[in-house]
Amino acid sequence: ASVYPFFGEHQAGIVTPAQDRLHFAAFDVAETLDREGLIALLTEWTDAAARLSQGLEVAEGGAVGGSDYAPPADTGEALGLPASGLTITFGFGPGLFADAEGADRFGIATRRPALLEPLPRFQGDALVPEISGGDLCIQACADDPQVAVHAIRNLSRIAFGRASLRWSQLGFGRTSSTSTTQATPRNLFGFKDGTANVKAEETATVDEQIWVNASDQPAWLEGGSYLVARRIRMIIENWDRVQLGEQEQLVGRSKGEGAPLSGGTEFTEPDFEKTGATDAPLIGTDAHVRLAHPTSNGGARMLRRGYNFVDGNDSLGRLDAGLFFLSFQRSPQQFIDVQRNLARDGLNEYLKHVGSAIFAVPGGVAEGEFVGQALF
Ligand code: HEM
Repeated sequence: ASVYPFFGEHQAGIVTPAQDRLHFAAFDVAETLDREGLIALLTEWTDAAARLSQGLEVAEGGAVGGSDYAPPADTGEALGLPASGLTITFGFGPGLFADAEGADRFGIATRRPALLEPLPRFQGDALVPEISGGDLCIQACADDPQVAVHAIRNLSRIAFGRASLRWSQLGFGRTSSTSTTQATPRNLFGFKDGTANVKAEETATVDEQIWVNASDQPAWLEGGSYLVARRIRMIIENWDRVQLGEQEQLVGRSKGEGAPLSGGTEFTEPDFEKTGATDAPLIGTDAHVRLAHPTSNGGARMLRRGYNFVDGNDSLGRLDAGLFFLSFQRSPQQFIDVQRNLARDGLNEYLKHVGSAIFAVPGGVAEGEFVGQALF
C-alpha cells in the first residue's frame, strides 16, 4: 500500500499516479468568517491532511483514545485501514477573493489571480448552480473509497461553522493514467481514457503546461496549478445503442486496443492527414481525439485526472452516470480553448455538462506552514 508525503514542492494528488477512488468536495465559507478564522481553518486542515495522508487519525487521541464525555476527535471508520495512497489537495475558488457583494473580508482581493474567473459559458452547458462553483475545494484520492470518504468527512467536520459543504462527488475507476507505470483504464463509454494524457515522467511538459511558473502572476501561486472540475453526465442508454464502428469514429480510436484509427497501437501518434479508400480522413473531422489534440489547440495540453461516477438512477430509470472530469493546467485558458474546440465533438450527442467549477491550487506546503500561506 502506498503512502505519499503531504509536504513537498507541489501539492500531492496532481502528478501522483491516479488512485482508484475519489471524494471531491467544494465548500462555501461562512458569512461570519474573517481573515484570522480563514487562516485558522487552513492551518487545521493542513495539520489534519498531513496526518491523514500518513494513515493516522485526524488528531491525537483519535477515535477512541479521548474522553468518554466528549465526541471523539476522529470519526473512526478508517481505524485499521492503511493510508491507501491517500492524497489531499486544496484549492481556492474565485469567490474566496471577494464575496458576491464584492466585500474583501479576508484582505486578499488584490491578490486574486487575474485568470481565476468563473469559466465562460460553453455551448451545450446545462449547469446546475447547486453542483457548481465553491469558495474552497478538497480533492481526496485513495485506493480505498472508505479512506477518501473518511478524509472529506473529517475535514468537513473541522470546518464546522467556518465553511460548509456546497456539493461533493464520489468517483471510481480513475479515467486517466498520470504515470507511464500505470495501465490505461476505461471510462463508462468503454474506451481507454488517458492514453495521450500528460504523464508525471514528462517533466519538461509538466513544467511547461501544468505548474504555474515563477514568471506567471501572482507570485504566491508559483508551483501551483489551476483545477477545472466538470460533472459530465453520459447518456449511457443511447450510447449503448450505437454501433461499434460509429463509437470508434466518434472517439477517433479503436475500442479494444485504444489505437488511433489512422493505425498503429495504443501509443502511436494519430495521423490526422491519413485518408482511407474514400479520401476521407481515417480520423473524422468531428472525432474527439482530433478536436482535443494539441495540434488543434495551439499546443495546449492538460493533466486529466477524472473519475467515473454512477449515482444511482434518475426518475426515468436511466443511470445517473458519467465522467467527473478533473484537469490541472498552468492557465485556465488551456481548458477553455480545448472545451471551445469540442463544440463540434460528435460525442456531445451523448454528453451533458451539469456541474462546473474552477480553483487555484496553491503550490506545495513546507512542514510548519499551512496550505496557501504565501497568499496571506
Ligand atoms: C482524449 C473520452 C471529455 C480532453 C480522450 C480519449 C477518450 C476521451 C476516449 C482518448 C484516449 C486518451 O488519450 O485519453 C472523453 C469522454 C469525455 C471527455 C468520454 C466526456 C465524458 C473531455 C473534455 C476535455 C477532454 C471535457 C477537455 C476540455 C481530452 C484531451 C485528450 C482526450 C486533451 C487527449 C487528446 C490527444 O492528445 O490525443 N478523451 N473525453 N476530454 N480528451 Fe477527452
